[in-house]
Amino acid sequence: MKLNIAVLSGDGIGPEIMKQGVAVLDAIAKKYNHEFVYHEAITGAHAIDAVGDPFPDSTFKTCMDADAVLFAAVGDPRFDNDPTAKVRPEQGLLAMRKKLGLFANVRPVATFDCLIHKSPLKDELLRGADFVVIRELTGGMYFGEKHQDNDVAWDTDIYHRNEIERILKVAFDFAERRKKHLTVVDKANVLASSRLWRQVAKEMESQYPDVTTDYMFIDNASMRVLTEPRFFDVIVTENTFGDILTDETSCITGSMGLQPSASLGEHTPLFEPVHGSWPQAAGKNIANPLAQILSAAMLLEHFGLNDEGAKIREAVSASLDANVRTPEIQVEGGNHYGTDEVGQWIVDYIKQH
Ligand code: IPM
Ligand code: MN
Repeated sequence: MKLNIAVLSGDGIGPEIMKQGVAVLDAIAKKYNHEFVYHEAITGAHAIDAVGDPFPDSTFKTCMDADAVLFAAVGDPRFDNDPTAKVRPEQGLLAMRKKLGLFANVRPVATFDCLIHKSPLKDELLRGADFVVIRELTGGMYFGEKHQDNDVAWDTDIYHRNEIERILKVAFDFAERRKKHLTVVDKANVLASSRLWRQVAKEMESQYPDVTTDYMFIDNASMRVLTEPRFFDVIVTENTFGDILTDETSCITGSMGLQPSASLGEHTPLFEPVHGSWPQAAGKNIANPLAQILSAAMLLEHFGLNDEGAKIREAVSASLDANVRTPEIQVEGGNHYGTDEVGQWIVDYIKQH
């Protein structure tokens, strides 16, 4: 298969982990006779420095022309504590999601047996936990009308029926293909937007008779994902709740550095780690490349390249079992491996197996 892949490395650790993601894709291309063509484009703080725009038109065009986007991370501390900054790297990410119509963000949460001890949660709660959070990505407070002056500021949590219907359809379809259990997470006891979500979900339930649907408030769900993670199969929720919930669920996996995601919708699908640009670690060769590499696996699986995706997953598990790990997940007394070494080990494994 030939795939044109837009490569957006962004800021901080982005370029380092992207290098490993691409190396792994190259190893797969060689082994399975595919042709992956990469088209690099700028985004984030890098792009602000270069052209004053975190998601310039040239990058948008590169994304639109590609079959898929592999994205790393954006963000730079120069902008974080400056409330007066007119442009921010994160706006690039949001513009990209909006312009590509990527309304469905798929964030799988799974455990690796050998990393269960890395989670602050109890083993017996975690073993076998395997669910996916479907986060709405182009609506809600992130994109609703905003206002800020010296005395008052607001953000509008707005959802139209069609936005709710299309994300719920993605979630119900996921549930049908998985363990047929959908949990709609909202705050319908307080928020009008949540009440519309709940109303639409209830209307749609009858189209999915095989799926058991339940409803949970976000505050309760935030507790239950930690106390009872095996309860869940598919969670669907709005943009802001999904953002918060998926940082929380990373403690189930044991490290933010292990969580990949896919963003799907109207135009080119995009694959990116859940974690951010970790600027403090940039250039130190300590960032975990696995979320990026697993995002590449999701990319391949999106195009039906399931054996290829499975090979990457097998290599990732093997690297963890072999203790070839970056510092944040290394066993006590074990050797630390760098970003490059972990990537190289995975490349070698793919070549040899
Ligand atoms: C994420 C990130 C982004 C978000 C930021 C960087 C704008 O936290 O992808 O989860 O809030 O969506
Ligand atoms: Mn987030």
